[in-house]
Amino acid sequence: MKKYLVTGCAGFIGTNFVYYMLKKYPEILLVNLDKLTYAGNLENLKDCEDDPRHVFVQGDICDKELVTGLFEKYDFDYVINFAAESHVDRSITNPETFVETNGMGTVNLLQCAKNAWYDSETKTWAEGKKYCQVSTDEVYGSLGADGYFMETTPLCPHSPYSSSKASADMFVMAYHDTYGMPVNITRCSNNYGPYQFPEKLIPLMINNVKNHKKLPVYGDGMNVRDWLYVEDHCKAIDMVANGGRDGEVYNVGGHNERPNIFIVKTIIAQLHDRLKDDGIDEGLIQYVADRLGHDRRYGIDPTKIKEELGWYPETPFEKGIVLTIDWYLEHEEWMNNVTSGNYQKYYEEMYKNK
Ligand code: NAD
Ligand code: DAU
Repeated sequence: MKKYLVTGCAGFIGTNFVYYMLKKYPEILLVNLDKLTYAGNLENLKDCEDDPRHVFVQGDICDKELVTGLFEKYDFDYVINFAAESHVDRSITNPETFVETNGMGTVNLLQCAKNAWYDSETKTWAEGKKYCQVSTDEVYGSLGADGYFMETTPLCPHSPYSSSKASADMFVMAYHDTYGMPVNITRCSNNYGPYQFPEKLIPLMINNVKNHKKLPVYGDGMNVRDWLYVEDHCKAIDMVANGGRDGEVYNVGGHNERPNIFIVKTIIAQLHDRLKDDGIDEGLIQYVADRLGHDRRYGIDPTKIKEELGWYPETPFEKGIVLTIDWYLEHEEWMNNVTSGNYQKYYEEMYKNK
């Protein structure tokens, strides 16, 4: 039975990954280490709380003693590091926590994995172990109208978030190049789907449209993101963990580039028709001040993961966005719970000067 340390899996992608893996592998152990920041939500995991294949541990990936103890207790085969501060806007107002979690946290996980898996006497690594870093296309910076991010594209991050993620990627490669640690890095484009915290574009817009609130579109609304349904990302991470070549980076994306305003108008049209609500129309759109250092376009070239591992995205955007809107409409209580309390304060602070 393979044993995984999965971090940050009370958040959006991690939650989806836990369900994906439990469905796919009858025999598996997932030890889920999550600090439960504002973005972590145990309610996400209630459908597997009685499943012995999933063990939840509340804690910080920066905590050396805790992580060392988990390695001793479980003798992990894999580490898959999802844990991160993940929101670009928050990184612009508060960069330090991004350096702490995304940078120092990653180094702590690498060091604890090395201590557990590397025999310094024989200078050998234990068989079958691997560290996987869940990174992002944002480390490559911003594209103009043409071209795509390849694994060979130089790193050129712009935001404090993407800089902290790029720095983590460099440490992962440093552990590979210096100590021979078995590692992979995935760099995925924008995810959407169930359980995403409504600070991110799609769930924020769904929630605002439903409540007839203004829809804050940054700048001219023509920034382009490459959207991937979250389950397709989970599939890619599983394939890379279990088949990726040692020391390699794999880009993940489905050639589904859309300007932000297209996404917002799609959500308006969908909810207008589904809820039969004439109070929902494009008049809700409000163009607001642009995000500082706003990357213009992301676009992934996924040729490598397709050719080497046979990965392909299964959910076209037209289907994925309907599934996503269905999920949020069916999980009104989830949305109410995560948007109560601190969320209101965050929203007012973040959008007051826009
Ligand atoms: P998220 O913000 O929804 O979840 C992050 C999780 O990490 C939360 O559960 C939080 O409690 C936990 N966490 C934060 N700090 C921690 C710490 N110090 N110790 C332990 N746990 C901690 O993020 P997400 O959107 O699910 O992203 C997951 C990963 O995927 C991140 O590394 C992100 O950079 C990467 N990624 C995200 C996207 C995307 O579109 N969301 C795309 C590509 C890559
Ligand atoms: O590309 C992968 C990245 O995608 C991940 O690494 C990040 O963790 C994830 O948050 C996401 O980053 P973005 O900045 O692209 O996602 P966000 O949902 O914050 O914004 C998407 C686009 O929508 C971006 O161009 C900014 C714009 N936007 C966002 C919000 C929240 C708006 O116009 N208005 C908004 O209110």
